[in-house]
Amino acid sequence: MKPIQVGLLGIGTVGSGTFEVLNRNQEEIQRRAGRGIEVTMVADLDVARAKSIVGANVQVVGDARKVIANPDIDIVVELIGGYGIAKQLVLEAIEAGKHVVTANKALLAVHGTEIFAAAHKKGVMVAFEAAVAGGIPIIKALREGLTANRIQWLAGIINGTTNFILSEMRDKGLAFNDVLKQAQALGYAEADPTFDIEGVDAAHKVTLMSAIAFGVPVQFDKAYVEGITKLEAQDIKYAEQLGYRIKLLGISKRTTAGIELRVHPCLVPAKRLIANVEGAMNAVMVHADAVGTTLYYGKGAGSEPTASAVIADLVDITRLHTADPLNRVPHLAFQPDAMSNLPILPMAEVVTSYYLRMRVADQAGVLAKVTGILANADISIDAVLQREAGEGESHTDLIILTHDCVEAKMNQAMAEMQQLSTVLAPITRIRKEELN
Ligand code: NDP
Ligand code: HSE
Repeated sequence: MKPIQVGLLGIGTVGSGTFEVLNRNQEEIQRRAGRGIEVTMVADLDVARAKSIVGANVQVVGDARKVIANPDIDIVVELIGGYGIAKQLVLEAIEAGKHVVTANKALLAVHGTEIFAAAHKKGVMVAFEAAVAGGIPIIKALREGLTANRIQWLAGIINGTTNFILSEMRDKGLAFNDVLKQAQALGYAEADPTFDIEGVDAAHKVTLMSAIAFGVPVQFDKAYVEGITKLEAQDIKYAEQLGYRIKLLGISKRTTAGIELRVHPCLVPAKRLIANVEGAMNAVMVHADAVGTTLYYGKGAGSEPTASAVIADLVDITRLHTADPLNRVPHLAFQPDAMSNLPILPMAEVVTSYYLRMRVADQAGVLAKVTGILANADISIDAVLQREAGEGESHTDLIILTHDCVEAKMNQAMAEMQQLSTVLAPITRIRKEELN
């Protein structure tokens, strides 16, 4: 049978890895797919560099639209990134009847509804395994492996840059900015690293996982997003003393009122496997009714790990492209006419537990006032830690762990505590997840 012909749009980090792995493992991939898969055309702004990667047998062009216009190309792989030209090219490829593979989580989290609808109308596939947690086959697991289950929640370390920063800060006591520079030099960070450190990249990814897990439309605009830029080294240290690690988690939970969709730093018990995921590695926990809790771990970024996921999608499309579109796995796991309209809950309605750190005057009665406010709000305390005031110091740090309460109550209690004359600085609040 004639090989499937692939056109690559963008041959940077992921594109070059895809080309390399596809060539290296061509024979095994063909045995799995049932026919050859060949990159026959590449578009990149830097034509000379692209030619030096792919050699003389592959046509290289500077204009991506020439790839889309080529009637011999069966699958277009978008590896440019961003929501600008990448969105136009993906929609044009779909309109031209091409199947699309993309690693672009930003594009799908923001414009997924439009893109999946266009693909559905045209009867083509849009595959995006590489968009979440790089080489970990988490999309396949959620969409197919766990298809018997009612998924209850998922929580993941899905941004390698921030996990690397938190690990280095904890292990080596390094400062945030120094570690960020290292992460950029190592190629983990996005073109705009604020997407990593402000939690946006993780929110793109958890938005996609949430849609597949619960059969809801992609709704990035409703996600609560908080990054790691306000975290202080002392919080990492206090968390450690209390038996926790701080991780940036992407969390989505099903509740009776709606779906929680949030990214923020989180205290996680140090004994959980996920708390021990270090460096740029990723991991996702999924809790579902039949299977219980499962954990997926691996490299969430990098040229070949991400290429591994891109090629898995190419093989899937090669196997399925002649199938009736109605018999293919739906883009978001659930049939498009069977999507749920459960709302995404505002953060004020989320129920979780908390770590609070307060800089307080070292005076009698301070603890009683603080705990009195929490008691009035019906917020139960789990643990209290007070740093011994240093010699000559008139203030100290008070750390409180709470049990679960609704965020709106905590917001109110924090506002009241902040008014106390004995609370000397803005209160630090970090959410806590037991993940059991
Ligand atoms: P790179 O920046 O390394 O590669 C993008 C390539 O696209 C560059 O070669 C760029 O050329 C080229 N390009 C830009 N505009 C155009 C255009 N209009 N036409 C053709 N080519 C163009 O990005 P990555 O490979 O790192 O990322 C690609 C996608 O994969 C992104 O969506 C990213 O979020 C996602 N991703 C990346 C991971 C990673 O580990 N890097 C992991 C998971 C997902 P030039 O350099 O000349 O501008
Ligand atoms: N910037 C991303 C990360 C790359 O650090 O995880 C992979 O999506």
